[in-house]
Amino acid sequence: MKTIKYNTLGILGKPLRQSLSPTLHNYWINQNKLEYDYCKFELECLDNIDKSIRKLRLKGLNVTIPFKKEIIKYLDEIDKTAQKLQAVNTIKNNDGILKGYNTDVSGFISGLNSLNKLNKEKPAVILGAGGACESVIYSLIRKGLKHIFLMNRTVEKAKLLKKKYKEVTVIKWLEKDILQLAGLIVNCTSLGMVGYPSLPISLKKVSKDTKIYDIVYNPLETRLIREAKKNKLEYVTGLPMFLGQAKKSFEIWFGITPKINNYIISKIKKKIENK
Ligand code: ATR
Repeated sequence: MKTIKYNTLGILGKPLRQSLSPTLHNYWINQNKLEYDYCKFELECLDNIDKSIRKLRLKGLNVTIPFKKEIIKYLDEIDKTAQKLQAVNTIKNNDGILKGYNTDVSGFISGLNSLNKLNKEKPAVILGAGGACESVIYSLIRKGLKHIFLMNRTVEKAKLLKKKYKEVTVIKWLEKDILQLAGLIVNCTSLGMVGYPSLPISLKKVSKDTKIYDIVYNPLETRLIREAKKNKLEYVTGLPMFLGQAKKSFEIWFGITPKINNYIISKIKKKIENK
């Protein structure tokens, strides 16, 4: 096992076997000639995590499933976005003061910005109302979308989000007709991810300017992305979101904007494909 030095960062979660964050952050650390290591901290529970972070003098952490909400009570401060979403995915240790941030919004917007201009008059349709969904809703509202249709297998979860965001309208799970009105369709479910069934929707009848965003990045080409390609629709995979949230975390820790170059993109893609 790696001994933990003072100059350490890492990712906190469980399970972490598949996490690509160490590959990405250690690449950026080396590229910027920083004397840090980024490790995995796979924990059963968060008991005393605040004390551990201070004692080990960790510079910062990413936080992932299942701890993004639970971590909040151990932090001294959280930023506005994390406060609104009640979810933290990045911590910075400022000489013992632990501050939480949410960079998933910034990551989602990076992916969105890689698409051509969105027609904001048309509604967005979001599938899924799990942990990742709220940052997507928040991002779309920040981008100026006024109408968001939300469908989820468990309708109660979608209804809770509707209570919080007036732009949201809850619709029936897999309601086909609504897709024809959409300017953007976002998959926030686990469907399409390795180990899960595919998302059972057809894009044959959607309008030609509808854009498709699948936040799943493992595999990179989900059935939804294949459907988008087949129907000649503009699309974005979950990879830019993954890279974008990591980039923002790195900026928070080091004040340096890391480069997303072809080398690291192909390294990450290879890792995904070889899993
Ligand atoms: P994440 O943090 O990645 O969003 P999550 O909180 O576990 O993960 O949410 C997973 C999402 O995928 C949920 O919207 C879930 O629907 P439910 O709320 O009904 O559980 C959705 N999902 C997972 N498996 C599904 C399946 N087989 N069919 C339909 N939706 C599914």
